[in-house]
Formats: sequence, structure tokens, C-alpha cells
Amino acid sequence: MPEISASILSIDSEKSMKILHELDEVKIDYFHIDVMDGKFVERNTSDIMYRYCSEIKQISTIPLDVHLMVKDIKKYVDVYLAFEPSIITFHLEAMETEEESMELIKYINSNGVKCGISISPETDVKEIYKYLPHIHMVLIMTVVPGKGGQALIPETILKIKELKNYIEQNNLDTYIEADGGINLDNVKDIRLAGTDIIVAGTAITNSGNYRNSINALKSE
Ligand code: DX5
Ligand code: ZN
Repeated sequence: MPEISASILSIDSEKSMKILHELDEVKIDYFHIDVMDGKFVERNTSDIMYRYCSEIKQISTIPLDVHLMVKDIKKYVDVYLAFEPSIITFHLEAMETEEESMELIKYINSNGVKCGISISPETDVKEIYKYLPHIHMVLIMTVVPGKGGQALIPETILKIKELKNYIEQNNLDTYIEADGGINLDNVKDIRLAGTDIIVAGTAITNSGNYRNSINALKSE
């Protein structure tokens, strides 16, 4: 059964404490924290995500899955390390060189945190292969990063399959996370393609009943 990482990007910020409490109670596997800097993507969520993480830490022990959609990765890694996340993921498209990426992976791991690398829909999945032995997880973006509530791009499901085949053929133990536009209509395809961790935002937070929507996403 896949794990569920709940994105809180699109929640009503005025009701955040109540919503975070409710998500804690329905036992999601992770809180998915979408950090945007206004540079790598247009929106800037750095202040609000910092606040949400502080609130989560007061009320919950559910692990944090931090997704950095930022250019200055090291700066944000340092900010979010303070919340002792389980996973920090950065974007391959934000990196200039392979050496730089390898340094970051080492730095994140040296702080006791698992490292993920994400690729946007336009990036060829083969570009991630050389990093697989060194990282915990690949986050395949199934929408263009930047906002919640978009429609999933169907071609990205083929990338998940290709990556899953490569991981199996090479006896690697890298996890696959898929993020963006996942709902009850497409979650089965995402799971069958080989996804280990499913990110769902609006499919959970816009539903009337968190528990039902999470159970449905898990059992489809
Ligand atoms: C998009 C974010 C996603 C997204 C998930 O840039 O990385 O985490 O907000 O939300 P839904 O599931 O609503 O697409
Ligand atoms: Zn995300």
C-alpha cells in the first residue's frame, strides 16, 4: 500500500491549527511542505510554510516531507533542518553542476535527514539516474511546480514506470514519490506505475472528510 503525504499548500491559513490537528488525527504518513521562493517558481510560500511547520511541531509527531521549490537550496535546507524533517527534496533544475548536487546530498544526510531529488515534467527521467545510488527518493512532478489544484499531466505516469523499471533492473532501493493533481480518478494508475509515496493536496484538503478521502486514496 502506498504512503500518503498530505500537501497543506492550499489550506485556509486562518484555520491552519484546526486543519493540522485534523490531519494529525487521521494519521497521514507525512505532512508535505511545499516551500516556494518566488524565484524558482512565481509564488513565495516561505513564510507561511515556516509558520505551518512551527504549528505542526507543537501538535504532531507525523514526519515532515519538505519539498523545496527554490533556487538557493542551501539557505532553505538550513531553515528547514531546524524542524527535524524526515525528508528534504530539492529540484534538479535548480542545480548548476553534479558536484553541487552531490555536496547537497551529503550535507542533508550528514544532518540525519533523507534526501530526495525532484524533476519537473519537462526534465528527462534519465537525468536522475546517476544520483539514484546516493539518494533516498525521487519526486516525480506530475504537474508543473508552482501551485496546487492543477490537472495531472498523463505523460508523467510513463516517467514513473520508466524510473521504476530502471530501479528494479539495477537492484536499487530508491523510493518514488509522485506529486501534483493526484485524485481518486488517477491514483490507481499512479500506484500501479510504481509510486511508493503519493502526495495529495486538494484531493484531501478540499474534501469534506479527510479520513474518507485518505482511505479512498490508499485503497483505490
Ligand atoms: C505543486 C506542489 C504540490 C501540490 C499538490 O507545486 O508541489 O505539492 O500543491 O497539490 P494538489 O494535490 O492539489 O495538486
Ligand atoms: Zn509538492
